[in-house]
Amino acid sequence: MGLMLLFSYALRYSLTLVMTLVLVTASTDGSSPPTNITAVLGDTTTFRCHIQKLGSPVIRLYIQKVIKDSQEIFINGFDSSRKLDVAPEYQKRTKVNRTDLSMEMTNVSISDEGLYKCIVFSDTMDKEMPKIHLKVTANYRVPTMDRKCSKHGDGAAGKSCQLSCSSVGGYPQSAVKWEGLNLSLINVIHNESYEDLYSKTWTINQTIMYNCDQPTNVSCAVEGAVSPAVSICEKEPFSIEVITAIVVVLVIVLLIILVLVLMKFCRGRSSRDQNEEAGFPLNACHLQLKVV
Ligand SMILES: *[C@@H]1O[C@H](CO)[C@@H](O)[C@H](O)[C@H]1NC(C)=O
Ligand SMILES: *[C@@H]1O[C@H](CO)[C@@H](O)[C@H](O)[C@H]1NC(C)=O
Ligand SMILES: *[C@@H]1O[C@H](CO)[C@@H](O)[C@H](O)[C@H]1NC(C)=O
Ligand SMILES: *[C@@H]1O[C@H](CO)[C@@H](O)[C@H](O)[C@H]1NC(C)=O
Ligand SMILES: *[C@@H]1O[C@H](CO)[C@@H](O)[C@H](O)[C@H]1NC(C)=O
Ligand SMILES: *[C@@H]1O[C@H](CO)[C@@H](O)[C@H](O)[C@H]1NC(C)=O
Ligand SMILES: *[C@@H]1O[C@H](CO)[C@@H](O)[C@H](O)[C@H]1NC(C)=O
Repeated sequence: MGLMLLFSYALRYSLTLVMTLVLVTASTDGSSPPTNITAVLGDTTTFRCHIQKLGSPVIRLYIQKVIKDSQEIFINGFDSSRKLDVAPEYQKRTKVNRTDLSMEMTNVSISDEGLYKCIVFSDTMDKEMPKIHLKVTANYRVPTMDRKCSKHGDGAAGKSCQLSCSSVGGYPQSAVKWEGLNLSLINVIHNESYEDLYSKTWTINQTIMYNCDQPTNVSCAVEGAVSPAVSICEKEPFSIEVITAIVVVLVIVLLIILVLVLMKFCRGRSSRDQNEEAGFPLNACHLQLKVV
């Protein structure tokens, strides 16, 4: 009887213990979804090892980067009993705050992107915090756009334009978007993107052909960066034939005015002095009078 009671107590106690352990494990689960943080290339970012109340003071903190599933490298941290070896690269760029268990990283590069984890040690336990995922972005430069437009070879109305758009220095890889064009009429003839091996940023470049018969303002965009708009297929104010006709008419009008002025001038002149020595104006007068 006494033995049964003891046994049942032991059972209940161990069950409670198991429940408690399960709860503790759940609240310190290092495999729960990571916290996302983002940083712009070259900026400073802060990793925060979010930690709920821990019974005893933290004596050690390791911040590690997960390279592959099981491979990790030590970035920085502290140990209250000894000095930790920090790789020179991170020695320069990271600073750990022991008070709030955070780490500041300066001059973030694209290779810093990835998964990090904090491991916190106190006298009574060690705890792996939810991982932190750092995402790095770099802003694309304002794209440059070139256009070459020509009349259709077959004499059809409208024009055929070759438009090129290019932007450098962005991350992650992206694509060119055209604004102001009817997308279903775009014909992509060249599309390339390549990565700078050193900075890991992308250059993207696209060339399209576009036929249009309406004046159109077009710009190209890569992520947030938009090129200035340029006009294509503007109506030419006058065709070559019209311009030629206008020039011809103007020349004729000018000639008539010249003739009239000369006639008036010569008449007055010749009536006043007939025997003037021959100068250029008089010669011209005689010529004009003879012609008229
Ligand atoms: C973090 O980003 C990933 C995608 O990159 C997303 O699936 C996940 O839900 C994000 N987590 C949080 C907590 O926002
Ligand atoms: C560490 O963090 C605490 C709380 O955020 C802050 O008050 C303190 O100034 C920080 N210490 C250093 C050295 O940055
Ligand atoms: C930032 O890092 C890049 C390489 O990732 C380096 O070329 C540059 O000099 C660094 N800038 C500063 C201010 O340290
Ligand atoms: C784009 O071009 C197609 C084919 O010519 C035409 O059917 C469509 O209406 C045009 N869309 C716009 C918005 O102009
Ligand atoms: C151009 O290349 C980029 C990156 O390689 C790709 O995402 C995009 O879909 C391509 N666009 C076209 C029209 O082929
Ligand atoms: C983009 O592609 C066009 C056509 O191939 C080329 O003329 C131009 O130089 C390229 N621009 C860049 C920045 O790569
Ligand atoms: C193009 O832009 C110019 C100047 O911004 C504007 O005057 C013109 O109306 C625009 N044309 C079209 C077709 O939107």
